[in-house]
Parts: sequence; structure tokens; C-alpha cells
Amino acid sequence: MTGASNPSSGTRADTYAASLRLSVAPMMDWTDVHCRQFHRLLAPGARLYTEMVHAKAVIHGDRTRLLALTPEQAPLALQLGGSEPAALAQATHIAADHGFDEVNLNCGCPSDRVQAGRFGACLMREPALVAECVAAMSAASDVPVTVKCRLGVDDDADYDVFADFVDGVVAAGAAMVVVHARNAWLQGLSPKENRDIPPLRYDWAYRLKRERPGLPVVINGGIATREAALAQLDHVDGVMLGRAAYHDPYVLHALDAALSGGPLQPRADLLRALRPYVEARMADGVALKHIVRHVLGLFHGQPGGRLFRQVLSEGAHRPGADWQLVEQALSATEHAGARSAA
Ligand SMILES: Cc1cc2nc3c(=O)[nH]c(=O)nc-3n(C[C@H](O)[C@H](O)[C@H](O)COP(=O)(O)O)c2cc1C
Repeated sequence: MTGASNPSSGTRADTYAASLRLSVAPMMDWTDVHCRQFHRLLAPGARLYTEMVHAKAVIHGDRTRLLALTPEQAPLALQLGGSEPAALAQATHIAADHGFDEVNLNCGCPSDRVQAGRFGACLMREPALVAECVAAMSAASDVPVTVKCRLGVDDDADYDVFADFVDGVVAAGAAMVVVHARNAWLQGLSPKENRDIPPLRYDWAYRLKRERPGLPVVINGGIATREAALAQLDHVDGVMLGRAAYHDPYVLHALDAALSGGPLQPRADLLRALRPYVEARMADGVALKHIVRHVLGLFHGQPGGRLFRQVLSEGAHRPGADWQLVEQALSATEHAGARSAA
């Protein structure tokens, strides 16, 4: 499943450039290879991100698993964690060889484990080191290197410090920044709380873009609907959706359709397009539950949506569960929808 084919570089580069407008955030344990295959069907034009992988794991670990991708998942970025320029450069080189379209450096994760390893959000306080990392990564391959950051850490409240951080990584070669538009509080909050409690300040990302019109800026944090995402595009180049894309994945489809001018497809048709992938992976020995856990939110907010989730999540754990379970969930949902409309 590794090694994306390389379509003609012009086409691939154009597709990559266009995907700046909509992306799905890197999310540990969520945006694995199966999830991305589903998201790709929903949003053919979106840029997808892997879960964060530490640079040293890329170098020394099981690459077949850690860097798994399929050709359809392009444009696809690998997100790296780490703060050692040489290791990040080596991992970037490996990622480029593997077929990733972008390598993104995580400067936003606040977990204790990450802080202990001196990477993630605490790097916002080490702009010179981050610039050194980005310079080494940029020199290691031709794939664009990008940075995902916060506005600051703890009680940082000086826009100029944030802007200097961004200017430093751009001078070092970063092609784009993703701004998760809130601070990370390094003490006292869990990673989950750190996605909700520090207040959002979108205006810092807007100002960054206004003052640096040539710099591609993608905004992230708390964007949950098609309308909210489209409104962001009046201010910045792209929107990145995290939790909303996972819990209510049809929003990705609605956004992608709005951006491309394409038709809205019914949820069931989108899901059925995943069948060849599911059957191929099951033939490789992957259990159905590992794939369908990512589709449970497809009917979020729809009549029958809870039944869909229930039939799939209960049934997928039973031995022998296969695609027929997905068909059962779809037909139960359809009947529930018809009943509620009657
Ligand atoms: C389960 C989960 C795992 C996450 N893992 C990562 C990660 O590996 N790397 C990263 O940069 N951000 C990670 N994030 C943060 C998201 O990328 C995003 O910045 C955050 O959820 C805010 O966007 P949202 O409000 O659209 O969800 C994670 C978020 C969630 C919910």
C-alpha cells in the first residue's frame, strides 16, 4: 500500500496547489490510512494530512505501517514531530521518496509526552530552532515543507512575537503556515481541553495574511460548518477542518462540492464507493471494524443517523463481519428516514 504512483508532475502539482483551500487536519488515531481513503471519496479536492509521526519513527520504525498511503490519497501531507534538524531532514527525504506531496512540521501539539520530547507547541518558544529544522527539511527534498502552529503558548499575547515566528520559518523555506488560531496552554490542560478552552483569535491569522499577501495562510480551529468555512476564505487562503470533518464528514463533501461547483452526492453513494477499498483491505487481513469506525458520523444529524452508527459499531465487532453489514446499516437508516418523513 505504499509508494504513490507519480502522475505527470504538472497535473499533480496543480492538484496540490488547488488543494490549499480545503484540508483535513492531522489527527492522531483518527486520520489513519483508512480514514483518509474515506475522506478522499467525500472531498476529491481536499488536502489530507496523516497523523503526526515522529521523525525518528520514520527513520527507524515500521515504514510500511507508519507511512501507509494509496495513490488516490494525493494530495497528501505527512506530518512530522521532532526538533532535531538532521532527523527531520532525513525523515523528509524518506517521505518525499515515499510519495507524499508535502511535509508538515508540528508546532502545535501540547501533550505532556510531546513537551517531554521538546517538540510540538513548546517549539513556539524556540523560533531559531524551528527555523533551523525547516531549513534542514527544505534542503532535504523538493517537496514543500510547511508548519502547523498555534498563536503562542501559555499567556503569550504579543502579535509581533507570533509574526516573527512565522517570518522565521518562512525565511527558512516554509511554503505555507497552518495557524490553529489559539494559544496552547502547556500547564494544567489536557490536549482535548487545549482544543477548546484557549480562546480563538482568528483576527491574528487574518492580519498575518493581510500584512503578507504572498504567504499562503491556512486557518484552523473551531470551524464546523460549510458556511463558516466558506466565510473564512474571504480572509485567508485555506481552511483546515479537524473534529467537524471526523464527526460530521458530510460537511467535507458539501464544502468540496461548493468549492469545485460539483454536484452533491447522496451519502449512501459516497459510502458505496468505499466498497472496493474495504474488500481489498479485508483480503489483506484488515478487520472491517478498523475501517468502518471512521464512517460512523456519515449520517450525523440525519433521520436514522443514530441507527446507522449503532448497527455498524455493534456489528463490526462480530467475527465474520463484512460489507454486507454496511449494506444492512444503510438500509436500516433508509427505512428509519422514510418512517420519520411519513
Ligand atoms: C483526536 C485528535 C488528534 C489530533 N492529533 C493531532 C496531530 O497529530 N497533529 C496536529 O498538528 N494536531 C492534532 N490535532 C489537532 C487538530 O489538528 C486541530 O488543530 C484541532 O482539532 C483544531 O481544529 P478543529 O477545531 O477543526 O478540530 C488533533 C486533534 C484531535 C481531535
